[in-house]
Formats: sequence, C-alpha cells, structure tokens
Amino acid sequence: MNISGKFITFEGGEGSGKSTQVLQLARWLEEQEIEVVTTREPGGAPSAEIVRSLLVEGAVDRWQPISEILLHNAARAEHIAHTVAPAIAEGKWVISDRYADSTMAYQGYAHGFDREIIRRIHEAATGGLMPDLTLILNVSVESGLARAGKRSGDEDRYERMGPEFHERVRAGFLEIARRDPKRCCIIDAEAELETVSRSVIDAASTHLKGALP
Ligand SMILES: Nc1ncnc2c1ncn2[C@@H]1O[C@H](COP(=O)(O)OP(=O)(O)OP(=O)(O)O)[C@@H](O)[C@H]1O
Ligand SMILES: [Mg+2]
Repeated sequence: MNISGKFITFEGGEGSGKSTQVLQLARWLEEQEIEVVTTREPGGAPSAEIVRSLLVEGAVDRWQPISEILLHNAARAEHIAHTVAPAIAEGKWVISDRYADSTMAYQGYAHGFDREIIRRIHEAATGGLMPDLTLILNVSVESGLARAGKRSGDEDRYERMGPEFHERVRAGFLEIARRDPKRCCIIDAEAELETVSRSVIDAASTHLKGALP
C-alpha cells in the first residue's frame, strides 16, 4: 500500500525565504496526513553537516572552484544516502532547503564552471537523483540580501560574494526553470510571507495532486 514518497526542493538566492517556506509547506502537508521530513543542504546528515561548515563559513576564496563543487557533492552524497533515500523508501515526503540546482546556479551559472562537468559529478554523487518538484523562490538581489543580513550567525560566506555574483545566481535559477519547466516552478517571493506560502501550496498541490491523499 505504501508507495514511495516525494522529493521536493526549495531553491533561490540568499534570503529568498527558503527556510521559512520549507516549514510552511511541511505544516500544510502534515495537515494532509502526509509524513514529512525536512532537511537542508549543504548538510542534512551528520557527516554532511561537517562539510557544511567548510562551505558556508570562512574566506570567500578559500576553495578552488572544483574543490567547492566536490565538497558540495560529497555532502550531497551523504545527505542522499543517510537521509533522503531512506525516508523516500519509507513513503515519507522529503522537503530540502537547497539541492543540486544550487550547485548549478552558484558554481555553474554564477562562477562560470563547466555545467556539463557539474552535471556529471551530480550523476556520480547521487545516481542523478532529481526532485519531483522544485520551487524556485524569485526575489530581487537587494531584498534577498537585506533579508539574509538579518539572520544571525557566521554562515555568510556566499552572501559576501557581492551583488553581481548574486544577480548571476538569480538569472541561473531562472534559466534552470526555463530548461526544466515540468519539474521547476518559479514563485514570486517578493510578496509578503503569507502570500508566498499560498503560492507555494498552490504549486505543490497542482504539481503533485495525483500523490496527495
Ligand atoms: N516573504 C517575506 N517577506 C519578508 N520577509 C521574509 C519573507 N520570507 C522570509 N522573510 C524573512 O527574511 C529572512 C530570511 O528568510 P529565510 O531565512 O527563510 O530565507 P533563506 O532563503 O532561507 O535565506 P538563506 O539563504 O540566508 O538561508 C528571515 O528573517 C525571514 O523571517
Ligand atoms: Mg535558509
């Protein structure tokens, strides 16, 4: 009776509202009597969380571009193996705050690393696992960075990469959605929190209606 669960990811730039909307969508799915696991990248498993701090803290230029991509994918391989794949196999729905599209947008579109190589590394790290649905939160770089600046802590390595970099990240996510419209849904995240949540729930219920109880 138990069929495999769904894998949903939130993507978008700094401060676009991903962490907020992961929780809102999880709450709505739980109201529909779906068992939900919320998780995040980089991280989402004990070994992957160790790698996270290497990526989100410290000097902007601490890694060679290839090293940064390999570290994200090392964390991702651990995350899939220990958290995502087991939950989906048990019929749970997994919602992840960032996944592979972030590597494509940040390291591919924004840093300019060869996107075909990134795709092949993803294939090797995860067997090519892609989400059933990706919600891309689209917000101006200015609003996103202003929102992110309010968040406390020292996980600001990517935030410090400058506005031009973040414009390329935003354009990269839009291009990813344009190339994969079946999987990706762009959400206007400039609006107030409740309005964004409503758009997210509408998109999830439309895209995954066959799987909802
Ligand atoms: N629609 C919104 N309007 C105004 N503020 C918002 C909205 N959504 C979230 N926020 C606030 O903006 C800040 C950043 O939101 P959140 O942490 O969810 O973004 P994020 O995409 O996870 O950021 P990061 O990339 O830094 O992890 C939080 O203080 C949150 O309460
Ligand atoms: Mg967040």
